[in-house]
Amino acid sequence: MSELTKFSDHTKVAFLGSGNMAGAIVRGLIADGHQKDCVLVTDRSGKSGPALAKETGCTYVAETKELIAQAQILILACKPHQVADLLAPLQQEIKDSAPLVVSILAGTSCEKLAKSLPDGYSSLVRVMPNVGAALGQSTTAVATQSATENEVQAVADLFSAVGSVSVIDEGNFATFTAMAGCSPAWFAASVEALARAGVANGLSAATAMKAAAEAMRASADLLLAEEDLPLAGAEVIRRVCSPGGTTVAGLQAAESAGLRHVWAAAVEAAIARDTTLGAS
Ligand SMILES: NC(=O)c1ccc[n+]([C@@H]2O[C@H](COP(=O)([O-])OP(=O)(O)OC[C@H]3O[C@@H](n4cnc5c(N)ncnc54)[C@H](OP(=O)(O)O)[C@@H]3O)[C@@H](O)[C@H]2O)c1
Repeated sequence: MSELTKFSDHTKVAFLGSGNMAGAIVRGLIADGHQKDCVLVTDRSGKSGPALAKETGCTYVAETKELIAQAQILILACKPHQVADLLAPLQQEIKDSAPLVVSILAGTSCEKLAKSLPDGYSSLVRVMPNVGAALGQSTTAVATQSATENEVQAVADLFSAVGSVSVIDEGNFATFTAMAGCSPAWFAASVEALARAGVANGLSAATAMKAAAEAMRASADLLLAEEDLPLAGAEVIRRVCSPGGTTVAGLQAAESAGLRHVWAAAVEAAIARDTTLGAS
């Protein structure tokens, strides 16, 4: 297969894995109008892949070798520790089919991944999407060490179907991963903590969760509507905090209790874990 120069609704996109993240991207791609028969998935158990195919209309291919033979873009969507064993017996198929390989594996550098691909394989792009992909709202980073500009553009076009895309230096991948890949879980934990405080003060659990989650969504929309993004946080805070009011009292209490420290610690721990994963 020759170099992929352009991504279209008919590009054959094959997923090695049918788990949470593959599922989110498949749902987003198909919702964006990608041809269902051009989205192929496989799995290990014979369960998650057929379930995803039944739900979305994509195609389940039980045989990994057959999946690779059809792939123009091959998305590595297993766990990072599984990839070396998974790819080892597939070297000849990858050479023959020569797909553009896209890794979404956390903490796995292009240099490390290249060791699991045929010698000198250059069509390799590293991507970090997030679970927003299922809603067309992924915040995705793309980096490469060896792929061509056309290949990077094809990957950016693919992931544009499921949200926004930033092409970044691979050196910033761990930080970006913390900011966008991990943060949905951290925000969910924060909303849950906020809602629990609402329940502790008399709201029903459902009312508290709805109020907290909707307020978070509105806050995100307000932040992103600001022209000067680096100052967006300060501006939204200014608008909500009346002098001497309830919000500023709550904000000061949260900051005294370590609000900024909590987020800095989360980001640093995620970067450290990324480094450990990368070394193992
Ligand atoms: N979850 C996130 O928000 C997120 C965000 C960014 C990046 N990532 C990255 O995305 C990757 C997948 O994460 P996930 O949360 O989607 O994991 P997951 O739900 O556990 O999915 C992993 C998938 O890999 C499949 N698999 C494992 N070994 C295989 C093999 N030998 N042949 C074929 N398929 C095989 C599994 O098949 P079975 O279903 O049959 O077990 C499963 O479908 C990870 O590398 C992670 O770092 C995740």
